Amino acid sequence: MAYRISLTPLVFFGAGSSSQAGEKIKELGCEKVICITDKGVKESGVADKIVKYLREAGIKVILYDRTLPDPPDYIIEECAKIAKDEQVDGVVGVGGGSSLDTAKGVNVLLGNPLPITSYLDRSKKRLPGKTLVLIPTTAGTGSEVTSVSVITNTKINKKGGVSGTGCISTLSLVDPELTVGLPASVTAATGMDAFSHVAESLTSKLANPFADILAERAIMIIKRYLPVAVRDGSNMTARTNMSLAAMLGGMTLKDAPTHIGHSIAHVLGSKLHISHGVGCAIALPEVIEHVADAVPEKVKLIGKAMGLNVDNLSTREMGREVPEAIRRLNKDVGIPTLRELKVEKASLESVAAEVLDDDCAPFVPKETTTEKILELLHNAYKQ
Ligand SMILES: [Fe+2]
Repeated sequence: MAYRISLTPLVFFGAGSSSQAGEKIKELGCEKVICITDKGVKESGVADKIVKYLREAGIKVILYDRTLPDPPDYIIEECAKIAKDEQVDGVVGVGGGSSLDTAKGVNVLLGNPLPITSYLDRSKKRLPGKTLVLIPTTAGTGSEVTSVSVITNTKINKKGGVSGTGCISTLSLVDPELTVGLPASVTAATGMDAFSHVAESLTSKLANPFADILAERAIMIIKRYLPVAVRDGSNMTARTNMSLAAMLGGMTLKDAPTHIGHSIAHVLGSKLHISHGVGCAIALPEVIEHVADAVPEKVKLIGKAMGLNVDNLSTREMGREVPEAIRRLNKDVGIPTLRELKVEKASLESVAAEVLDDDCAPFVPKETTTEKILELLHNAYKQ
């Protein structure tokens, strides 16, 4: 079996690493950058801190703080217009996955004409953008090391991925201290997004031994440290481990992509406005139950990494026990259920109808029908 290993961009990891932003970005030759973030990160003071580091190093900074969840195409284009008018030579994304993905999209448009949605077509040739630096403030998406920007085509209300040239960071600064101020609910949702990345990567049709190693370790870390980080946000051991696990998750995704758990979450997001991490967490146990008979050894690995005694279980038993353990983890960290989110059961039919059209769906390791997806959603609804 031959498989691809896309090595990660250059990363500086560790508490305090973001304080080197100014000198590192200066070393990359930047003189004027656009710093892309959202209102929440601006209000938390984190974006201002990064801007201060940049200005102290003599870099001119334009601050854009209007990124939105599920990055809409028009926001990326608005921000890119400002960046072009200001003739920046670098793009710095500071925030959760949405801000980092917006920064990637803006960088694509710095080298190429509008609209951003035209680059959803992977075969479309394009030029590289400028220097791209990503500084995550959550531990979940792993976007700091992936080569894809998930954006929303607002004309058809559908999410899709722009990947490759322009979307790979020149440098990422992963500083767990920046995640300390996250509320427990965001810590939980982003942490379960990371868990979903690695569990789906392990069971992906394109799973490979390199990604499996990263994924297995990430599951062990998340199972142990996510509940700690949710309960005590200032615990730096937990925060550091979660930042590491999220980055490992991002590294697995490049070559062993997620599948229908993420497809379900994408549609729950675009149709019902359920946050990405929560959607992933709700879908994952049902999806693992669904694929257990197709990839039993992988489901066993997930169970083992979660600390379950799965050695003597039949495939059928494992298909029950491992999803149950994921449901317990969801509950432990406070992920709401579909009922708690006040989702109407009747709306699940229209969600199911779109799931298999999602970009991640082809990577599910077994034949899956829309009827089956609806069944999985109904199972999730019973929880
Ligand atoms: Fe995700």
